[in-house]
Amino acid sequence: MNERALEIQKQIVLAVEHLKADDVVGMPTETVYGLAGRIDSEVAIKKIFSTKERPFFDPLIVHVNSIEQAKSCASEWSEVSQALAQAFWPGPLTLVLPKADKISDLITSGLTTVGLRWPNHPIAQEMIERVGVPLAAPSANKFGRTSPTKAQHVKDEFSNEVLVVDGDACSIGIESTVLHIKTMALKKYQLSILRQGAILKSQIDLVVSKLNIDYSWIESIDKKESPGHMKHHYMPSIPFVVCRNSQMKLSELVVRLNQKLQELPDEVEGVKIIKPKAEIKKIEFLRLSKDPTQAARELYAQLRAASLRNPDALCFIQGPDLHQEMWQSLFDRLYKAASLIID
Ligand code: TXA
Ligand code: MG
Repeated sequence: MNERALEIQKQIVLAVEHLKADDVVGMPTETVYGLAGRIDSEVAIKKIFSTKERPFFDPLIVHVNSIEQAKSCASEWSEVSQALAQAFWPGPLTLVLPKADKISDLITSGLTTVGLRWPNHPIAQEMIERVGVPLAAPSANKFGRTSPTKAQHVKDEFSNEVLVVDGDACSIGIESTVLHIKTMALKKYQLSILRQGAILKSQIDLVVSKLNIDYSWIESIDKKESPGHMKHHYMPSIPFVVCRNSQMKLSELVVRLNQKLQELPDEVEGVKIIKPKAEIKKIEFLRLSKDPTQAARELYAQLRAASLRNPDALCFIQGPDLHQEMWQSLFDRLYKAASLIID
């Protein structure tokens, strides 16, 4: 084993000790870093919420290391769950299913469902395996803020107070696709995407359409069934703006930003809106790869790096040429991270 691998092994052993002792730790996954705690420890679960300053109404995803372990967390495991798990696990897909009794209301925010995911990162898998029980893990950021895709982001976010296992930069870079599966009757299902991600609706549809079942897609779901669905999220620490008019002159953009950003409310649905402290003079432009897979990998790291350079505002100009389905998942993050969207 080389020096780096030895160092990682040491970090994993220490993290597992912390987890066994009801503590929370930063865990790399292929999507974003999670703030993990064992699902059977009320102390750990409460610590996840308090560390993140997350309201208790927003449920946590439970991370498992096999389909068998996922089944033990759900009270129902349908042919749809089985087919999707086989097709996309380990990977960036979270299945929302009726919960088993052993999953506490604290994890699910009182909902009767639980979000389950088998992450595709060897360190996350080893941590779950060594602890011996599934790990609840939301993204390791303060509530409403940009998710972390590097170990250093987690350290920065929690002022070095959380132990983090360094699993390098996340290969996907945005959170998992969250899919709600509702059994309506024998062989009859309703599917709904609660959060877009790297597993696309068309890929899910391709798998489900091969099953001998009757199913439909529901576009909008009751807020009660998806409490984490907020207008703002992923916000960097400087005002971020998406401009959907790629023809707008810089002078007009500056005038519009100075006018509109001041008018924003301080808070929306409990999330603090980032507003400028003084007149906007210096705007930095966010440049993302035209390849959406690469853009996803870079997005959060770029939002964080730009914030550290401290321009008056950060702006993404949305060109008309971004059509691939994966861009929808990226726009979801960009629009929510933005204090303002202008046309
Ligand atoms: O990729 C990911 O999913 C990352 C990594 C760490 O696995 N985790 C993550 O967790 O993004 P979090 O807590 O930041 O986002 C989970 C989302 C929230 O919007 C939450 O409301 C939703 O999933 N969710 C979790 N359980 C749910 C449930 N039972 N019903 C509806 N939505 C649920
Ligand atoms: Mg999150």
